[in-house]
Amino acid sequence: MSNWFETLEGLHIQVWDTLIQGLVDAGHPARRPTFATVSPDNWPEARTVVLRGSDTEAGIVSVYSDLHSDKIRSLKKNPRAALHIWDPAQALQIRLKTEVTIASGPAVRPLWENIPAQSRQSYGVSPAPGRPIPDALDYIKNAYPDTFAVLHCRIITIDVVHLGDDHRRASYSRSDDWAGKWLSP
Ligand SMILES: Cc1cc2nc3c(=O)[nH]c(=O)nc-3n(C[C@H](O)[C@H](O)[C@H](O)COP(=O)(O)O)c2cc1C
Repeated sequence: MSNWFETLEGLHIQVWDTLIQGLVDAGHPARRPTFATVSPDNWPEARTVVLRGSDTEAGIVSVYSDLHSDKIRSLKKNPRAALHIWDPAQALQIRLKTEVTIASGPAVRPLWENIPAQSRQSYGVSPAPGRPIPDALDYIKNAYPDTFAVLHCRIITIDVVHLGDDHRRASYSRSDDWAGKWLSP
């Protein structure tokens, strides 16, 4: 019997198991991926986010954000994002290239209702995120549903690196139904 990292199918399953671990375990590295976009003036930009949802069948992961944050401006211009996870316990790097749909307003109200009151304050800071303020604490955190956004990230490709005794790298793509292929690491 082979180890999970020795087959394309095993690695692919491990990617999704890892993403699901990130959803259920607040301490898991997959809980806080790096989320990268391209700014309107073509700069790469990256930030930490919390993984909030995943749909294995549809190949979608979801992230929450403030509708007025810079990443939303970037995504409106270029609706593509990359997510990056490094899980040292599994020696596993996961990179996802995704196409992002921004959902807000009534469509996401049921998700808003499920967010604990304390956490809702993350989606409604005033002035808007990234705006200059006179002093460090010159802002107010509001729990404001109208500025709550859900970023549905439809995965186009998955790139996985496993750094075991041997190094393995594989790529999976939606266009070939996630069959996968080995790449030189
Ligand atoms: C541990 C951690 C988790 C975070 N989670 C989120 C998140 O889920 N969504 C979000 O929009 N920002 C999150 N942030 C804040 C972002 O990293 C970033 O500072 C903020 O979204 C503004 O980014 P932008 O100006 O590029 O849009 C988190 C930051 C840290 C340190």
